[in-house]
Amino acid sequence: MFQDKKILLAVTGSIAAYKSILLVRLLVKAGAEVKVVLTPAAKEFVTPLTLATLSKNAVISELANNDSWSNHVMLGRWADVMVVAPLSVNTLAKMANGMCDNMLLATWLSATCPVVVAPAMDEDMWHHPATQANLQKLQLYGNRIIPVEKGELASGLHGDGRMAEPEAILKYLENNIFSKKDLAGKKALVTAGPTYEPIDPVRFIGNHSSGKMGVAIAEELAGRGAEVHLVLGPSSVKTTFPGIYVHKVQTAGEMYDTCMAEFPTADIAVMSAAVADYTPIEIAPEKIKKTSSTLVIELTKTKDILKSLGQLKRNGQLLAGFALETANERQYALDKLTSKNADLIVLNSLNDEGAGFGYDTNKVTIFEKGGNEIAYDRKPKQQVAKDIVDRIVNMLYV
Ligand code: CTP
Repeated sequence: MFQDKKILLAVTGSIAAYKSILLVRLLVKAGAEVKVVLTPAAKEFVTPLTLATLSKNAVISELANNDSWSNHVMLGRWADVMVVAPLSVNTLAKMANGMCDNMLLATWLSATCPVVVAPAMDEDMWHHPATQANLQKLQLYGNRIIPVEKGELASGLHGDGRMAEPEAILKYLENNIFSKKDLAGKKALVTAGPTYEPIDPVRFIGNHSSGKMGVAIAEELAGRGAEVHLVLGPSSVKTTFPGIYVHKVQTAGEMYDTCMAEFPTADIAVMSAAVADYTPIEIAPEKIKKTSSTLVIELTKTKDILKSLGQLKRNGQLLAGFALETANERQYALDKLTSKNADLIVLNSLNDEGAGFGYDTNKVTIFEKGGNEIAYDRKPKQQVAKDIVDRIVNMLYV
């Protein structure tokens, strides 16, 4: 799995930096080529000599050394993945704000490879809104976050904030970055996010979908080698994942047109967008003034994209849809399998805590055409995406 993979390990100033020694050793033992970049503060916790010896490469920490300039751009391009472990709260804040006062940050800013970060900090720092906001920013930049673990912390307290163990980081890289390319040569179409249906030049009808689930699915499909066309409604979630072509759309109509154009050549289609079911019949050309005490906006049904693709579906194409329900969930999900001619329906219930719009986690049940029904635990959306794509791959090849 790691044979000849080029891994750039970035170590910041945190007690957990001692784990970077084991991480380098495990990666090298697994066949990876490892280069290490350190912040100046990291040297207080782990010596460059140890890391250089274990990685068999000189450790880099200065932007310039005597007369020579370290080429951070080439380092970021050399790597198949950049792993920031541990990521201290200070470096996280600098990254979130695009600061560049050391070699590690310069490398991160110019990295073209996927970036994975493994934060480490005390529990209160971890839960601070500033930290969470900074982590969200990193996610928006396309960085992947390995969740912290619960346990004994350097402060002596017990709680969230421990850096993931080196073995868990290897597992993460194995599953998320270097996973089998079992979808190489396949084309996938994914919809994500909400749609905005304009009422007048300044107002629209929308919904709370964040787009996180759909983007995670697109990244998982691309990670397994598929060429992904992500049709993304107005969402603040961004992806820079290689192999994903993003088609930005606003309305259900635009989403429909893009899907109809891309579907004939797709092998897989996953409709995870929260598409508006109704759209205003007329868009007022000027801003509507509040002159009357009531306002009636006449709406008309939008085209059902999932159903339209289901009607066009030919042998060999796999179509997956979502169902977000508040009542009779199981029955509605099963109905959608047949009414939309889908091969798989992912049900997420708004009744489950930590599932659905806006959350970073989701709890789903997958219903398959053949009668399989698989209920999963609540998990981060990236892992839910992996479960969904596992089922898609299984259905595609079995
Ligand atoms: N969907 C779609 N196009 C639409 C509406 C929905 O492609 N115009 C897709 C969604 O992306 C999702 C699935 O249909 O995969 C289910 O959406 P949902 O809103 O839960 O169900 P509806 O089909 O709209 O059915 P109903 O409103 O009757 O529950």
